[in-house]
Amino acid sequence: MEFNDVIKNRRITREFSNKEVDYKDIEAIIEAGTFAPSNNYLRQWDFVVIDDETTKSIISKCVANYSANPNEPRNPYEDMCKYAFPRQRSMIGEAKYLILPVIGENNLFKATSNFQLMHYADTWCVIGNMFLSATDLGLECSMHVPSREEEKQIFNLIKCKSGYVIPCIIGIGYPGDNAYYPKEVEFDKNRIHKNRW
Ligand SMILES: Cc1cc2nc3c(=O)[nH]c(=O)nc-3n(C[C@H](O)[C@H](O)[C@H](O)COP(=O)(O)O)c2cc1C
Repeated sequence: MEFNDVIKNRRITREFSNKEVDYKDIEAIIEAGTFAPSNNYLRQWDFVVIDDETTKSIISKCVANYSANPNEPRNPYEDMCKYAFPRQRSMIGEAKYLILPVIGENNLFKATSNFQLMHYADTWCVIGNMFLSATDLGLECSMHVPSREEEKQIFNLIKCKSGYVIPCIIGIGYPGDNAYYPKEVEFDKNRIHKNRW
């Protein structure tokens, strides 16, 4: 796929099909992630890859059962939430693979400056690369940012040491026939400020 098509076609998917995913694609996606810039050049990211059905199912149940607002959506954000909230669990169970980026970050939640967030920030660069790589391979990704409580349960399950953070749970698979993509909100070019705000 052309680079710009990859960028423009990448969407978050919250319903996956049953089609199998080649593990080589998962390796390629992680490799693409690791080419992201890293704040200290050390590339200190770990990834837990999960394809075991039981483990996926338990992880999906670690996630709270978010429900949709029954009211008619008043804006694109509410439209997205109405579709996304009830699928936070099911999209994890349906994805053929989960990738959990895991980073050691004791001070993240006490951060008072950009500098203390740099490792967290470079992990999001990794996540961005992985999403684009998945699109390039014809795959799609879901993402769920876990609460601290959800994260704690997942750490117990995967036997992770304390002092680590999971910035998001990434689901990977082929999109389901009924996958819905909320209308994209166009970026307002007036938000590009030249020379001064
Ligand atoms: C930092 C961040 C956190 C997000 N957290 C979630 C999440 O917890 N659950 C979810 O379904 N989508 C999550 N999303 C996906 C956004 O809802 C999605 O990117 C947005 O609606 C735009 O849709 P698109 O990515 O398909 O263009 C998150 C996105 C970002 C960048």
